[in-house]
Amino acid sequence: MATTFCIYLIFLLSLTFTIFNLSSSSSPSQTDILLSFKASIQDSNNALSTWSNTSSNHYCNWNGISCSTTKPFSVTSISLQSLNLSGDISSSICDLTKLSYLNLADNSFNEPIPLHLSKCSFLETLNLSNNLIWGTIPSQISEFGSLRVLDLSRNHIEGNIPESFGTLKNLEVLNIGSNLLSGNVPTIFGNLTKLEVLDLSQNPYLVSEIPEDIGELGRLKQLLLQSSSFQGEIPGSLVGLYSLTHLDLSENNLTGFVPKSLAYSLKNLVSFDVSQNKLSGPFPNGICKGLIINLSLHTNIFTGSLPNSTISECMSLERFQVQNNGFYGDFPIELFSLPKIKLIRAENNRFSGQIPESISKAVLLEQVQLDNNSFSGKIPIGLGFVKSLYRFSASLNNFYGELPPNFCDSPVMSIMNLSHNSLSGQIPQLKKCRKLVSLSLADNSIIGEIPTSLAELPVLTYLDLSDNNLTGSIPQRLQNLKLALFNVSFNELSGKVPYSLISGLPASFLEGNPGLCGPGLPKLCSDDDMPRHHNGGVTTLTCVLISFAFVVGTAFVVGGFVLYRRSCKGNDNGVGVWRSVFFYPLRISENDLLIGMNEKSSLGKGGVFGKVYVVSLPSGELVVVKKLVNFRNQSSKSLKAEVKTLAKIRHKNIVKILGFCHSDESVFLIYEYLNEGSLGDLISSQSFPLPWGVRLRIAIGVAQGLAYLHRDYVPHLLHRNVKSNNILLDANFEPKLTDFALDRVLGEAAFHSTLDSEGASSCYNPPEYGYSKKPTEQLDVYSFGVVLLELVSGRKAEATEESDDSIDIVKWVRRKVNLTNGVQQVLDPTISHTCHQAMVGALDIALSCTSVVPEKRPTLVEVVRGLQSFESRAQDLNEEHSIPV
Ligand SMILES: *[C@@H]1O[C@H](CO)[C@@H](O)[C@H](O)[C@H]1NC(C)=O
Ligand SMILES: *[C@@H]1O[C@H](CO)[C@@H](O)[C@H](O)[C@H]1NC(C)=O
Ligand SMILES: *[C@@H]1O[C@H](CO)[C@@H](O)[C@H](O)[C@H]1NC(C)=O
Ligand SMILES: *[C@@H]1O[C@H](CO)[C@@H](O)[C@H](O)[C@H]1NC(C)=O
Ligand SMILES: *[C@@H]1O[C@H](CO)[C@@H](O)[C@H](O)[C@H]1NC(C)=O
Ligand SMILES: *[C@@H]1O[C@H](CO)[C@@H](O)[C@H](O)[C@H]1NC(C)=O
Ligand SMILES: *[C@@H]1O[C@H](CO)[C@@H](O)[C@H](O)[C@H]1NC(C)=O
Ligand SMILES: *[C@@H]1O[C@H](CO)[C@@H](O)[C@H](O)[C@H]1NC(C)=O
Ligand SMILES: *[C@@H]1O[C@H](CO)[C@@H](O)[C@H](O)[C@H]1NC(C)=O
Repeated sequence: MATTFCIYLIFLLSLTFTIFNLSSSSSPSQTDILLSFKASIQDSNNALSTWSNTSSNHYCNWNGISCSTTKPFSVTSISLQSLNLSGDISSSICDLTKLSYLNLADNSFNEPIPLHLSKCSFLETLNLSNNLIWGTIPSQISEFGSLRVLDLSRNHIEGNIPESFGTLKNLEVLNIGSNLLSGNVPTIFGNLTKLEVLDLSQNPYLVSEIPEDIGELGRLKQLLLQSSSFQGEIPGSLVGLYSLTHLDLSENNLTGFVPKSLAYSLKNLVSFDVSQNKLSGPFPNGICKGLIINLSLHTNIFTGSLPNSTISECMSLERFQVQNNGFYGDFPIELFSLPKIKLIRAENNRFSGQIPESISKAVLLEQVQLDNNSFSGKIPIGLGFVKSLYRFSASLNNFYGELPPNFCDSPVMSIMNLSHNSLSGQIPQLKKCRKLVSLSLADNSIIGEIPTSLAELPVLTYLDLSDNNLTGSIPQRLQNLKLALFNVSFNELSGKVPYSLISGLPASFLEGNPGLCGPGLPKLCSDDDMPRHHNGGVTTLTCVLISFAFVVGTAFVVGGFVLYRRSCKGNDNGVGVWRSVFFYPLRISENDLLIGMNEKSSLGKGGVFGKVYVVSLPSGELVVVKKLVNFRNQSSKSLKAEVKTLAKIRHKNIVKILGFCHSDESVFLIYEYLNEGSLGDLISSQSFPLPWGVRLRIAIGVAQGLAYLHRDYVPHLLHRNVKSNNILLDANFEPKLTDFALDRVLGEAAFHSTLDSEGASSCYNPPEYGYSKKPTEQLDVYSFGVVLLELVSGRKAEATEESDDSIDIVKWVRRKVNLTNGVQQVLDPTISHTCHQAMVGALDIALSCTSVVPEKRPTLVEVVRGLQSFESRAQDLNEEHSIPV
């Protein structure tokens, strides 16, 4: 045994030695070159700590370095993106003669374009995207003759695009988007025949026509010119772009017609976007039929025979966006039945035409927006067969006829807007669109009653049926919905208005229906007995609940003791029943913990996931122990791995997990103890006396903690239970998130059913929670938005039994902000007016976080940035304005 080990060791040593020798003999300077490159870089986060000159650490293993796989192991690639590096990019790196790839994107290099890198004769890819590169592009850019990929996007480069770009014949990718380039784009593309991606987007001072010679780039796949200041007409020469998959000319100042010839290029097109320009005229007819090709029109620009690929059928087209222009004439209706089409946006033009029944063939169609045009005809039955459609808006057109009974059958339909048309007939019963959030049929000629099935749509939030000829009464069951907007004004409705629809909604939403009656309306109902809160009844119920909780609690303690006894017995037999892992030296045994967890030490409420105890360690320190009542049957090993994943999180805004113990039945998570209670407690206490500056800091801290879980921690985690009760505060009011990522410990099924038992209707849950199985970042963003609303308004999120305003905060705020002066009413009145500007800003962020459409919510990184922009101001004010009592 020992001999073998010795031989092995000698072998290892000699191996290391060989590698070292090899590196120092055959390419002696690579280490030194890299170290001298490192020496000129400022590395505040110590990301290059592995770059050090020790024999055991070969440079090919250094962070970001790749080498050729054969001797002499030359460095071929350096990737150091997103490391907050700054300082100088030293030309010493060009002594690495085989270096072909250099990516320094997403750092803070603050210097002009490093022309000296043109000495790197093998360099093929230079990526300096998203740094602080400044200055102009010098004509010596031509020295980068070997480059195939040049990415200088997202910097502060200014001045004109030099003609000498035209000599970079090897370029396949040229991205100089999101800079401050100006002037006219010169004729430089004739020789760049290998170009596949050209991105000049987001250069607002680039006032130029689209150069004709771009049309010669036969291999170009992506032409991205959006959000600059391109003007003039779209050149007909673009017919030469046979390989084009992505064309984005949106948000420019383009005028004139879309050239008919463009139709030839559409064969491979995936995305076509000319939205937000000043284009006009009819859209090329037959753009996707490929049959109407008039060659004689283009003989001046087109020579040679048409490749077969120019016979356009748009079979690959997924996105078609022409909105906000001046197009008129017939819309190319063949788009509606393409096999891959997902998005069609044509709103705010003067298109005419009908939606064909063949729309049912567009089996991937997700979104159609045709508002504010002159479309006409009936809503086709085929529309209801498209099962992927989640948004259909066609307001302000001339659609007429009855709504087909299946018009809202898509199971993912979320937004349906057919307002301001000439629709007639009744509203069909809606049953299948369980994800419908917004339905507007306002200003049509619809008759009949409001269908009661609307009350069964779990996430319906906006319902506008105003200006129609609806009759009958308002279904009582609509009270079940969390409606933020309910407008039935100017119909012929009658009878009693459900109480919760009167309270809180502007009276104008009911006006113009002389037959309606109820408190606050011109007409009172004859049998007016408004439902009131029966406080007696509530108290009794609460009592029953409390006693029940007590019984359950006691059962827990008894259970705990039984387990403890069993564990002692088990230990006698040498089989450990309780297993513990402490990540901190807690100096406590499982027995001490179990004894410490009694009724006296339990924190009254606990959470949904189990009771919480404060246990004193022998040292006198306090820890919090959370007993998870329900956990999956998994091996002790995988449970340990999951808890370890959570325990390794180190962030100032996340409560530390100190350890855990588990038996076959339970898991106890041990957390650090914070003595100031939760944000939720503070908000429910009679007064909520925190000054604005402190509230803002709490909000920023929480957002930073969540952003850390979402983006920085590996593996990425979701919190999934963000609410003010899970935000603990330390003595300096620094917030710390607790109860995070318990899905990891409990398993998805148990986690979900436990949360559901609390009520899927918790107002911290977003509308999509009811139907979406997939947990997303946007779910946490929504819950965070609710907490932010609590901080801004000083109001508890959940409705309370006692309070008369028995609606939740999101609904309450949304109703208020719809009113004039409503925003002021939302802000916590105990906070001084001098903070209002920042509070309104925070309210805006909270509203976008709680957007009903998940895609519209910002990321937490964006939220942090937004909130921080109000911070310095709040700090200044903090000192002057003491807390109003
Ligand atoms: C790296 O180590 C080698 C051998 O130990 C030495 O010759 C060389 O000078 C060192 N380079 C630097 C930059 O310290
Ligand atoms: C990035 O680096 C700069 C200075 O090099 C430092 O001031 C800043 O704190 C760093 N940022 C992060 C997020 O590490
Ligand atoms: C440059 O690097 C960034 C960050 O790694 C990446 O997103 C981008 O796609 C790269 N550019 C090119 C042209 O590959
Ligand atoms: C293309 O290259 C040729 C010869 O190398 C040169 O004469 C011409 O000016 C170049 N054209 C452009 C547009 O740069
Ligand atoms: C568009 O062009 C018009 C005149 O041609 C000019 O007045 C306007 O400022 C331009 N708009 C943009 C966004 O460049
Ligand atoms: C083709 O273009 C020519 C010249 O503009 C025109 O005279 C002719 O009518 C066109 N043919 C068709 C079929 O559109
Ligand atoms: C083009 O189409 C013709 C007839 O349809 C066919 O004979 C020919 O092979 C095709 N050429 C290419 C390059 O696909
Ligand atoms: C409708 O589109 C026209 C331009 O075609 C625009 O001027 C108008 O503001 C739009 N109306 C609405 C309500 O958006
Ligand atoms: C709908 O009501 C309007 C005015 O209230 C009336 O002019 C119109 O005739 C009614 N239409 C139908 C179909 O009842």
